[in-house]
Amino acid sequence: MAVLEKEIIASIPGTYNLENYDELRHTFSWDDAAKELSFAKTGKLNAAYETIDRHVDEGYGNKIALHYVNGDERRLLTYQAVKDKTDHYARVLKSHGVKKGDRVFVFLPKTPECYISILAIIKIGAIAGPLFEAFMEEAVKDRINDCKGTVLITDNEMVKRVPQKEIPSLHTILDVEDIENTIIDSKKDCDLVEWVDPEDGMLIHYTSGSTGKPKGVLHAHRVVSHHYVSGKWVLDVKDDDVYWCTSHPGWVTGSVYGLFAPWLNRATIVIQGGRFKAENWYQLIHELKVTIWYSAPTAFRMLLSQGEVIKNYDLSSLRHVLSVGEPLNPEVIYWAWEQLGVRIHDTWWMTETGGHLIVNLPAETIKPGSMGRPFPGITVGILDENGRELPRGSVGQLAIRTPWPGLMKEIWGSKDRFDAYFKYEGWYVSGDLAYQDEDGYVFFQSRDDDMINSAGERIGPFEVESKLIEHPAVAEAGVIGKPDPIRGELVKAFITLRPGFTESKELLEEIRVFVRNNLAAHAAPREIEVLDELPKTVISGKILRRQLKELEINRTKSN
Ligand code: PRX
Repeated sequence: MAVLEKEIIASIPGTYNLENYDELRHTFSWDDAAKELSFAKTGKLNAAYETIDRHVDEGYGNKIALHYVNGDERRLLTYQAVKDKTDHYARVLKSHGVKKGDRVFVFLPKTPECYISILAIIKIGAIAGPLFEAFMEEAVKDRINDCKGTVLITDNEMVKRVPQKEIPSLHTILDVEDIENTIIDSKKDCDLVEWVDPEDGMLIHYTSGSTGKPKGVLHAHRVVSHHYVSGKWVLDVKDDDVYWCTSHPGWVTGSVYGLFAPWLNRATIVIQGGRFKAENWYQLIHELKVTIWYSAPTAFRMLLSQGEVIKNYDLSSLRHVLSVGEPLNPEVIYWAWEQLGVRIHDTWWMTETGGHLIVNLPAETIKPGSMGRPFPGITVGILDENGRELPRGSVGQLAIRTPWPGLMKEIWGSKDRFDAYFKYEGWYVSGDLAYQDEDGYVFFQSRDDDMINSAGERIGPFEVESKLIEHPAVAEAGVIGKPDPIRGELVKAFITLRPGFTESKELLEEIRVFVRNNLAAHAAPREIEVLDELPKTVISGKILRRQLKELEINRTKSN
């Protein structure tokens, strides 16, 4: 049996796709690792073909590709069915004039059609922009406008949150129901798959920076080799696995490790609709006998806080559990060890990095509190403010040697914002602070900027502040992440009021709802505090978020 000590947990004996981490690190090459993918042979590829069609061509058409669960609804699709549906969607997109390189957005709940739309767009060489289902008008508009999206796939409910008149580039909105009902002649299109260059764009995810509007992180088709290899070794997908990633494809975890990586490795995936409820989640694992489960610390903490409900379900099918997005508390690892008999494997990466960079592999010892060790083929550096590497044990900027296949291709429309990640020659600088111990394990310390991480979701303070000051009562706003035991951080806004407005509970609630209804629920401040004035820099008058954060943290300490 594996050892549980407070500092380390040895792996559970078993057979894993990668058994010899230390040996492999010396011999690893990305080209070898991805040689099963078609561009290794032809130089051309298509990520959607690699993800689904390849398995059908190899004789796995009858294998179950997905289980869909939403309340009482259950659906099941084979690889063949996913391919056929994707082809149909691709034909409909083509009939609307979608061409290689066009940006096509998907704004759908977590349904099979959401996944299929993304694949169809990529199959015909266009760039897929998945949007998170809870986005409101402003968030939808900003993203589509930024990269001049031309087509949007949505449904008859969510379309109400698409301000079409304010998005001049958007010429077509397609309702999934209509796509399903369209009759198209499939005989004419022997070349549905657009074979592209590995450097051609395929996926754009918008993510927050600490300043300015969200950035459009563009990934090229080559990213699939990173998805494939990390799916094989970190997710440890094997043929009889039932794999569930709880994230929505509008977030990068939901697309990379919810769709591409598991399907590239021929997993049967689970797609769950509806909101979080501990009973439903446990029921889903119990009923579908989920074997691999990928979620986030906030979700684990919420489950942990529900206590005994876990006892009502048989969760013994779980063999491999992973976490991402925010620091994973050791207490959560011990809880899973006691309640489920498995370890939780933390993983670290970012929207910009395209795939896992620091990982805990299933065959290796984990150290609770650490994000793990560098993925094979990845070199971590902890840098000082001059870009020099610091000795082991010192806290500094977490950086990665460039390049690797998953690294983003560009930030849409902004070379400056892209270049900011590469300020030291030969390094990608993450914006996180961390240290690495003598054994190579990396420990997260904090962000090096004002970015907020609430429930694993990356929230840019600027976007929230901009929305706040659109409210007639708000003069100025400074937004920070306030430490929170369940969500990691919660969004807290400090504001000043315009003359003529007086603070009241009703007014603050109105302001909060204003942000929620116009931007997104997860970005709406859970706390709003009115100050007489906000701390600012003397020269430029910029609001000092760090000072606001210190104020908040000192208060928590003195309580
Ligand atoms: O601060 C780090 C945090 O999330 C940031 C990346 O956010 P995003 O692009 O939304 O991607 C989230 C999932 C890929 C990082 O800069 N982060 C991510 N994973 C971890 C983490 N913080 C601590 N521990 C992690 N395992």
